[in-house]
Amino acid sequence: MSEITTPRELFLHELSDILYVERKLADETLPKLISEVRDDEFKAALEDHLDQTRGHVTNVEQVFGELGEEASAEKCLGFEGLKAEHDKLLEETSSDLIDSVDLGAAARTENYEIAAYEGLRRMAKALGEDKAVDLLDANLAQEKEALRLVEKIATRVSNESVKATA
Ligand SMILES: [Fe+2]
Ligand SMILES: [Fe+2]
Repeated sequence: MSEITTPRELFLHELSDILYVERKLADETLPKLISEVRDDEFKAALEDHLDQTRGHVTNVEQVFGELGEEASAEKCLGFEGLKAEHDKLLEETSSDLIDSVDLGAAARTENYEIAAYEGLRRMAKALGEDKAVDLLDANLAQEKEALRLVEKIATRVSNESVKATA
């Protein structure tokens, strides 16, 4: 028998998935990236996004509360895949290209989060959970802003790294 049989249950499952991602980012992944990158603007952007990510955790927990549910996280295989790919690539790449590797991983992660929040927002709207929609929108807006900044920094860093090796 299927465990998830209603749109609401599916919504809660997807919410558990993004809670896992946000907690991992706040507790492990972003602090690790901050310690390994060299570019000052990228480091500062990651530090700002770490602050925002702590807020994302709180907002997602609040969405559970809005639905009268206990917040629970479920291992997100998509995120674990992104992380495994990043870790492998880092091992294979010389240290002067760390920023480029980490900018690629950051852009992939933001795109993943954006897709997740757009889906969650759509489901919350359909379920008539307006407060949940607002909380999800707040996270979504910051993910989009973070992606724009990562793309801007990635363009500069790519140009600089190509110039340095020309
Ligand atoms: Fe986030
Ligand atoms: Fe993010």
